[in-house]
Amino acid sequence: MNAKRIAAFALPLLLMLAGDVLAAQNVKSLYQRNCASCHGRYGEKPALNKARALTTLNEGQITEALTERRAGKIQGAGSQPKKRLTDEDIQQLAAYIQTLKTR
Ligand code: HEC
Repeated sequence: MNAKRIAAFALPLLLMLAGDVLAAQNVKSLYQRNCASCHGRYGEKPALNKARALTTLNEGQITEALTERRAGKIQGAGSQPKKRLTDEDIQQLAAYIQTLKTR
């Protein structure tokens, strides 16, 4: 392989990896800024004593919970912070919260 070919192969790969790292940092700060105050830094708190600890929920349960609250199907003190989330935010948060369980 010549240098050009190596670059053509390696560059997109590097950009993809950099993209993943950025996404990982974004979802972390999204969670810490918008969720941690009620649910705890590690998803361990029962927000206002009304929610289960997020660490007891699996990815599907979190996606469903966020989608329902965003849609207004569940009204409560915790619904407002969910209103601004995009589909991508929800998917990333559900996956991110799983990584908090191992801490
Ligand atoms: C103002 C405090 C507050 C903030 C901020 C907040 N929540 Fe909540 N959350 C609650 C409360 C209170 C409930 C339980 C009431 C309800 O059912 O909506 C809840 C419920 C939930 C549930 C369902 C839990 C269960 O028992 O089934 C999930 C999942 C959740 N929140 C995730 C999040 C995520 C992710 C964020 C950040 C985008 C967030 N919350 C931000 C207060 C908050």
